[in-house]
Amino acid sequence: MTERKSGFRRVVCSIAQKFHSHEHPGAEGAGWNKNVAGPISVDSTSLRGKVALITGSSKSIGASIAKTLAAQGAFVVINYAKDGRSAEEVAQQINMAAITSTSDLASGSLPLKSMDHHGNGDNDVETPRQQPEQQQAIVIKADSSTISGGQYLLQETLRLFGRLDILVLSAGLMGSKALSEIDESFFDAHFNFNVKAPLFLVKAAADVMTRPGGRIIFLSTSLTAASTLLPNALCYVASKGAVEQITRVLAKDLGTQGFTVNTIAPGPVNTALFRAGTPQHVIDSIAAQIPNHRIAEPDDIAPIVAFLASPAAQWVNGQILGVNGGYVV
Ligand SMILES: NC(=O)c1ccc[n+]([C@@H]2O[C@H](COP(=O)([O-])OP(=O)(O)OC[C@H]3O[C@@H](n4cnc5c(N)ncnc54)[C@H](OP(=O)(O)O)[C@@H]3O)[C@@H](O)[C@H]2O)c1
Repeated sequence: MTERKSGFRRVVCSIAQKFHSHEHPGAEGAGWNKNVAGPISVDSTSLRGKVALITGSSKSIGASIAKTLAAQGAFVVINYAKDGRSAEEVAQQINMAAITSTSDLASGSLPLKSMDHHGNGDNDVETPRQQPEQQQAIVIKADSSTISGGQYLLQETLRLFGRLDILVLSAGLMGSKALSEIDESFFDAHFNFNVKAPLFLVKAAADVMTRPGGRIIFLSTSLTAASTLLPNALCYVASKGAVEQITRVLAKDLGTQGFTVNTIAPGPVNTALFRAGTPQHVIDSIAAQIPNHRIAEPDDIAPIVAFLASPAAQWVNGQILGVNGGYVV
């Protein structure tokens, strides 16, 4: 681990130096914990030249986050575990949008030739495939529910993009069993996926991420605060509660190095994770309790992550931000 960490550092330092020399002045000058004159706005160049890794980003909330960060100028890593086609589609959409964009978000900012890269979940097969230069999104297959998968994801991100500014821990597990039904493996699966693997990914990433200005954003759930939660939410909510406490403590710890660490806590979102195991009548009754009478779509959530990733959010640290349309107040 020590050797690997110093290896990361060497790669990042040498490439980041090159990268900074090519970077649009706005990327550094627009904040990242620097004192600037006047308020910092959020716009389509807020994340210009930044590199963002979003775990579980081939579908649902993670995919929407990746597209939104890319739309604000970030280079993004699309991570998936099983369905490579969806991951490719998301990357393709981002790369096509970048080509057709008149705002020239990526121009001059990419540190390395990027590649679509497919390891397997056990990290033992690597088949890099050279792609045209200046791709804004790359695909990395890695199992983000394990520490080794996270290490591999980080290593490949640094190898292909040369730096990391924004880490979003979106991949997660939401099982549904009450106390009488749970066993050790169900409990461990939730804490491994939702707590242990993200925490150790953050630990490794914190050594190599841009500082000051690095952004770490976890995903929790409004269920940690909702009194309407059901008994079968036990392991899911317990693990997300741990994530929220981790956020508070890491803000104090990594905050001293110029990172912000925050968590967004969405209410129900229309994704496969939510729909699996949630009968339609339950979805309808939840929707009835939301002022807009609908559950969220992933695109309702992603802009809040983009805001937290932006220079404008440099003073938001250690917070759990509810994004639930007024479902939980
Ligand atoms: N949906 C909600 O109502 C809701 C509400 C509050 C909070 N959240 C939180 O928001 C986050 C995202 O939720 P979601 O509903 O968007 O989830 P989702 O629909 O299950 O997201 C699926 C994405 O995660 C990837 N993925 C799954 N397992 C993976 C693994 N082991 N390694 C890497 N990638 C993996 C999938 O890729 P493959 O298909 O290739 O595996 C896909 O890209 C979670 O942390 C969840 O707890 C969700």
